[in-house]
Amino acid sequence: MAKVAVMGFGTVGSGVYDIIKKNGGKISENIGEETSVKYILDIRDFPDHPEKEIFTKEFDRILNDDEVTVAAEVIGGLHPAYEYTKSLLEAGKSVVTSNKELVATYGTELLEIAKENNVSYLFEASVGGGIPIIRPMSQCLAANNIKSIAGILNGTTNYILNEMITKGKSFETALKQAQDKGYAERNPAADVEGHDACRKIAILSSLASGKFVDYNDIPTEGITNITLDDVKYAEKLDGVIKLIGYAKFLDNGKIYSHVAPMVVKNESPIASVNGVFNAIMVNGDCVGDVMFYGKGAGTMPTASAVVADIADCVRNKNRKKTAPWEMPEENIMASGDDEKFSYFIRTTDSAEDVRGAFGKCEFVDNIVKSESAFVTEPLCESDFKEKLSKLKNVVSSIRILA
Ligand code: HSE
Repeated sequence: MAKVAVMGFGTVGSGVYDIIKKNGGKISENIGEETSVKYILDIRDFPDHPEKEIFTKEFDRILNDDEVTVAAEVIGGLHPAYEYTKSLLEAGKSVVTSNKELVATYGTELLEIAKENNVSYLFEASVGGGIPIIRPMSQCLAANNIKSIAGILNGTTNYILNEMITKGKSFETALKQAQDKGYAERNPAADVEGHDACRKIAILSSLASGKFVDYNDIPTEGITNITLDDVKYAEKLDGVIKLIGYAKFLDNGKIYSHVAPMVVKNESPIASVNGVFNAIMVNGDCVGDVMFYGKGAGTMPTASAVVADIADCVRNKNRKKTAPWEMPEENIMASGDDEKFSYFIRTTDSAEDVRGAFGKCEFVDNIVKSESAFVTEPLCESDFKEKLSKLKNVVSSIRILA
């Protein structure tokens, strides 16, 4: 009988409990061992919960209980999640998590501690919510050199952009709805300013390269400056604006990565990914393009990935553990000049000034009077910045996903 502790009874934690209750029989059958929740750790009281006796505020009860072999850390944030996870792994208990902030920050150390103690530290739910992506990348795509990853990695921003595109809603109204539906992070800035997507592309890049990619090294822009006019212009370009986590694995071993709103052409399967859905396009040198699609946020999708990791820990408790990435010995990040993008630009400068600055470019019929709107040739970052600085007034500039 496997006894599990659920740490944090918020959006994801309550779903973990519900899934184990609802599908416990099937899960136990799959893994060949009965699995039940022995503790729920939360600082709040839940006096009306049907199993109120399993709630505790004392972490040490879980840590010191030899019966507990797996804990789900769904508290979120760095502290005390880091300290709890570290203590549990050192005590020989496996930990599973949906906490991308923790994995992206302390993942290398925690994975190493897990390996030393021959227990698991699994984080399928940390990227893409309910979408299987971590395990497929580390197992099913293991025969490939990953060449690139481009994905919609944040459900909240995709929901917001979709409401703006299809219903003409304001950014604020759409954000409020996403929060009400339980998609947004505790601090919505993490979603709308791109930090959540940044941590996720950092985790995927670390997995793909086998080297830790520090999210602090990934230039990140959110969607707070995207307007309904930008959205309408994208339509004229036969595309839609999506917040994209992007990583390109260069032949010299370096990684180019960014998070930014990009114009995605309608012909790309990513363009039709709407609402809270995420999609991650991975290109491998043998397999070509593979796309992973599903609900990237929300209680039950995310909790289903956490419970699958719990099952994995129970099933594979005696299997020798390996860490999926290590600390690189040197800087592995490429510069902005190692990758080229075409840009969509709006300016109040004249078409003549635009030609003077950018030379060859393709003009788009303007939606806003007195603006020039155009698409550049593919440019590296320093060329783009140098040309852009020649314009007097830039309204917006958005990369185009090739
Ligand atoms: N706030 C995140 C999102 C939740 O909207 O995608 C899942 O990581």
